[in-house]
Amino acid sequence: MDRYAVIGNPIAHSKSPQIHAAFARQTGQALSYEAILGPMHGFADTVRAFAASGGRGMNVTVPFKLDAYDLADHLSERAQAAGAVNTLSFRADGIHADNTDGCGLIRDLTRNLNCPLAGQRVLLLGAGGAARGVLHPLLAEGPAQVVVANRTPARARELVERFRPLCTHSALDGGGFDALAGQTFDVLINATAASLSDEAPPVPAAVYGPGALAYDMMYGAQPTAFLKAAAGAGAARGADGLGMLVEQAAESFFLWRGVRPATAEVLAALRAGLRAG
Ligand code: ATR
Repeated sequence: MDRYAVIGNPIAHSKSPQIHAAFARQTGQALSYEAILGPMHGFADTVRAFAASGGRGMNVTVPFKLDAYDLADHLSERAQAAGAVNTLSFRADGIHADNTDGCGLIRDLTRNLNCPLAGQRVLLLGAGGAARGVLHPLLAEGPAQVVVANRTPARARELVERFRPLCTHSALDGGGFDALAGQTFDVLINATAASLSDEAPPVPAAVYGPGALAYDMMYGAQPTAFLKAAAGAGAARGADGLGMLVEQAAESFFLWRGVRPATAEVLAALRAGLRAG
């Protein structure tokens, strides 16, 4: 049986084994998928040992996405743009690395949430790895405008300058939260780590345009602090990142197996599990 795994630290609560087991059942693919606790020092050795023992591929999660980037023999364009890797494929000519996070976000927004991005005004909150990982795929959808806002404004400006050469059709700006005063957006995406400490990025309440969608890349049993703040400020819709998680997994599964699983049922089951605790 072909072996796959997710590696991270911590890893015990990863939903990836459950998601990939559901994809395998649904598509009739014979594979196993396990969770591996990566040692803080020794990521590369652990990955190589898994590949040597017959592993075909791995998902990589926090805090190893940059280590995976460094380990790769072949980087996809998506991984290069993201500067990070979440999917490894072990092939005869070495380790192939890709990043499916951005694709997962775009699929969740455009297909699951029926929120096309072309021509839209998009606000991306945060300028860390999570924001960098999705910026190129976001720009590729052809929004009218993308603004990156961050607690540390210089990081937002740096990120925007790094991606400016890849941005041909959208207005692209970066700065602090204060600079958002007087602007409104159609799609607002929280890529900060603020939800981890139950905080919402301090965006002005007036940034939500009519019909605006607030999207938090984090998820939980309850709405995140950002989604609660957005609802309070009048955002028409809110969604958390559970759909992104399932869609990035589906894209990894497709890369490995050449079969695209249907995601709606898997997402619904995960959501029910989260609610049940
Ligand atoms: P990740 O890989 O999850 O993006 P990261 O690279 O450490 O992690 O980036 C964390 C992001 O969340 C940054 O944009 C950070 O803002 P700073 O650049 O100013 O540090 C943002 N962040 C973390 N906690 C936050 C909070 N309480 N409020 C607003 N932004 C926060």
